[in-house]
Amino acid sequence: MLPSMTTFDLLLPEDTLRHPDSAKWKFYPDDVLPLWVADMDFAVAPAILAALQERLTRGLGYAPFEVEATPLAPLLREKLATQGLADLPTGGLRTLPGVVPGLYAAVAGLSSPGDEILTMTPIYPPFLGSIRDQGRTLRAVPLLQQEDGWQIDWDALEAAVSPATRVLMLCHPHNPTGRVWTTEELKRLGEFVLRHRLWVISDELHADLSFGGPHVAFASVHPELLQRTVTLTGPCKTYNTAGLGIGAMISHNVALLDRITALTRGVQGHPSALSITMWIAALEGGAEWLAAVLAQLRSNRDHLSARLRQELPWVRFSPPEATYLALLDFRQHPRSADIQQFLLTEAKVGLNDGPPFGEGYQGFVRLNFATSPELLDEAINRIVRAVTQSE
Ligand SMILES: Cc1ncc(COP(=O)(O)O)c(C=O)c1O
Repeated sequence: MLPSMTTFDLLLPEDTLRHPDSAKWKFYPDDVLPLWVADMDFAVAPAILAALQERLTRGLGYAPFEVEATPLAPLLREKLATQGLADLPTGGLRTLPGVVPGLYAAVAGLSSPGDEILTMTPIYPPFLGSIRDQGRTLRAVPLLQQEDGWQIDWDALEAAVSPATRVLMLCHPHNPTGRVWTTEELKRLGEFVLRHRLWVISDELHADLSFGGPHVAFASVHPELLQRTVTLTGPCKTYNTAGLGIGAMISHNVALLDRITALTRGVQGHPSALSITMWIAALEGGAEWLAAVLAQLRSNRDHLSARLRQELPWVRFSPPEATYLALLDFRQHPRSADIQQFLLTEAKVGLNDGPPFGEGYQGFVRLNFATSPELLDEAINRIVRAVTQSE
């Protein structure tokens, strides 16, 4: 039985965060505030910490080889059912060493070299890597940047399909725009997919980090989509556990998962015992911690939005509906051609640069606001000072 925790500190001090074992905090020099890679500057959830400590007292041998033989399977099935993915068949749920391995494996399993794959840009860069690195042809469909936020360009999507198109890769919620696709948009995408007989790889890793209502899985909006979709998920964005590497692929079409598994057998490895223990503990006891995280993220998002609107109104920005990532459009700045480097050297803030998210995103940067209000404010101060001094 895990101890019940009612209070905990979410925010870690800067000197704890700035440790050589943190990619986020060690990538840039010590005078830089790193608001880039998607890790949160928050302490481990008490339920996870307790479960990991307890697991270590019993050694570190292999965990059961089949996820169905662990308590993780029923917990995940229960959770997926709340997102519309009820009644997963036996074999419809498989663990992965992470979601990126799942993106690559699913591309390998659902297409052949030379096939075309659609995705909507800007997009989390490994989507593009999983297509290009495996000799598939990228059909990038840019989202429309409108006053009411980032929108799907339905005409461009239709125009991008050819007889060689096999797969749509969807990110829902969407990294880096923070869009949560509405049920209407998902249904329209579903009709598009069924009309063109595409497979879908739907990365729903950020599902728990929505500031709106409960997550609706893409595959759930039409019964036929359950047979055409592989959904990818994992605990790492929700519970800030990327260092423990685990994910899952899910489909009602077990033959699809068999095909993917067969193609990547031996190179996928097995999830670590600690990662399985962590995910179980998160699902069983992480709710209170997650509620605190979401409250902090919402407050940070609103603060960032208010300050940008007030102090840098020319920076185009649509507050994200999910995730802790903010895509900022600095194309009106004189240094837009190297804006990430400019903000790094002049503001001492480390952000993700736009171009890896797709062609046409020079002048954009992605800011990770999952940090303390103090560090977020300091980063905004530095950015505002640097860009106003250079005006
Ligand atoms: C949409 C999306 N997919 C996958 C990943 C990475 O997942 P993993 O670390 O499990 O490979 C991220 C990380 O930020 C992400 O934002």
